[in-house]
Amino acid sequence: MLMIRNIIALFPAFIRSTSLGMDEETLSLVRTIVPALTSKKHKGQDGRIGIIGGCQEYTGAPYFAAISALKVGADLSHVFCTREAAVVIKSYSPELIVHPVLDSPNALEEIDKWLPRLHSLVVGPGLGRDEGLLRTAKEVIEKSKARDIPIIIDADGLWLVAQQPSVIQGYQKAILTPNFMEFTRLYEALHQEPLDGSDRGRSVLQLSGALGNVTVLLKGEQDLISDGRRVLTCSLRGSGRRCGGQGDLLSGSLGALAHWAFSATPPPSRSVSPALLAAFGACALTKQCNSQAFQTHGRATTTSDMIQEIGPAFKKLFES
Ligand SMILES: *[C@@H]1O[C@H](CO)[C@@H](O)[C@H](O)[C@H]1NC(C)=O
Repeated sequence: MLMIRNIIALFPAFIRSTSLGMDEETLSLVRTIVPALTSKKHKGQDGRIGIIGGCQEYTGAPYFAAISALKVGADLSHVFCTREAAVVIKSYSPELIVHPVLDSPNALEEIDKWLPRLHSLVVGPGLGRDEGLLRTAKEVIEKSKARDIPIIIDADGLWLVAQQPSVIQGYQKAILTPNFMEFTRLYEALHQEPLDGSDRGRSVLQLSGALGNVTVLLKGEQDLISDGRRVLTCSLRGSGRRCGGQGDLLSGSLGALAHWAFSATPPPSRSVSPALLAAFGACALTKQCNSQAFQTHGRATTTSDMIQEIGPAFKKLFES
């Protein structure tokens, strides 16, 4: 079975004709990791998610990621951002816990106080490229690896990985979520040769392998996900409308899903790794939100409209 899938992965045309069945099969596996809503649990058990990002220029991205994690079903979302960004992000929503520490001289110490309480980390939404902030992000990644929690890396967090791949190489609970531009930069940093874009599935498999089988999710019209062993395609349809910020919906919801997938006992599947499963779930959810928001708002669809669809979209995909 595994071999057949690997072969399928190398033939994009074949994927297209078989993908609906495979999507359905993978979705049913995702359903098994979704925690039941019961009153017996204590607060925090369904996930405390941390977002590292938010600076002077960018406040929307960390907000989108954090609120998406909450709406998917995490109990708490923490945002670790710069002092200036904190006031803005707090004013978007009373639901987030916002720590104005990322540019403080003892940033690492401040964040480290919270790390033992976090179940997963999303690094990069609205992080920017300030050297000091990137250095802090790198140290937080190192600390989180030592705690063995899932780490999602997106946006400027991927910039960091392209400069210093060793920060994440070989960490089996890491999931990278590049768009095509970010993917190309990573690929070329790891392979020292230009990307041949003709077979994206193969390139995703190769990049994952070069990163020590870290899970890589290449976002696009069809999302491609690889853990270095196989490639999954999420062929659920969104719409023609792509709005800035929908990647943050994906990374934030993935923060929650990755926690569930890695803590599921027994492991949800022998053939699909927890990271692949979580990534697939987040892709499917994002596409579904996009499609539903588009039905109402058409070309005026924005990420806020998509976030409003998380509840119904989640229910449709994973709870029906
Ligand atoms: C990654 O996966 C491939 C395929 O299963 C395997 O051959 C390779 O040893 C793995 N690499 C690491 C670093 O685990």
